[in-house]
Amino acid sequence: MTYQLIYSSDSSIPMQADDLEDLLEQARERNARRGITGALVYVDGVFLQILEGEAATIKALMAKIAIDLRHEAVTVLQEGEVPAPRFSDWTMAYVGATPEQVADWLCMPGTTPVPDLFDGMRRDASQVTNVAQSVLSVLSADRADPASGPQGRA
Ligand SMILES: Cc1cc2nc3c(=O)[nH]c(=O)nc-3n(C[C@H](O)[C@H](O)[C@H](O)COP(=O)(O)O)c2cc1C
Repeated sequence: MTYQLIYSSDSSIPMQADDLEDLLEQARERNARRGITGALVYVDGVFLQILEGEAATIKALMAKIAIDLRHEAVTVLQEGEVPAPRFSDWTMAYVGATPEQVADWLCMPGTTPVPDLFDGMRRDASQVTNVAQSVLSVLSADRADPASGPQGRA
C-alpha cells in the first residue's frame, strides 16, 4: 500500500522562478532517497502538493513541511492509503498553473478567485481527487511532448 497526502498552503513570500527551482531541486533529491513521489502545483501564491510513499515517511516529511517558513496556512486536504502510487514517474513534478486552469479542473467559472477555488476543495474531498487526476493528466501530456523538460522524473 502507498500513503498519499494532499495539502494546500499559502506561500509566505511570492515565489520567484529561482526560489521554486531551489525548492524543487532539494525536494527531488531528498524524495528520491526516501522513495517519495508526487507533484507540486503553484498558482498565484498558493501551493497544492501531492505526496506519495510509505506512510511513516510521508508523515515525517509532512511534519517538516508544515513548519517550513516559506509557506503558511498549511491545510491537509486528503490523506490515506491508496492501492498504488499515481505519481510514481516523478520525484516531484512541478505544474505552474493559472487560476483559470485550476477553475477548469474544478468545473468552476474561470473568473473564480483562487481563495474560493481552494475553499471549495477544503469542503469537498471529491474535488481534491478531481484536481489530483487533472494534475496527472497535465503531466502525462507533458511527458508525451519531447519539448518539455525532465520535470523531476523518477
Ligand atoms: C511548498 C513546499 C514543498 C516542499 N516539498 C518538499 C518535498 O517534497 N520533499 C522534501 O524533502 N522537502 C520538501 N520541502 C522542504 C521541507 O519543508 C524541508 O525544508 C526539508 O524537508 C528539509 O528539512 P530539514 O532540513 O529539517 O531536514 C518543501 C517545502 C515547501 C515550502
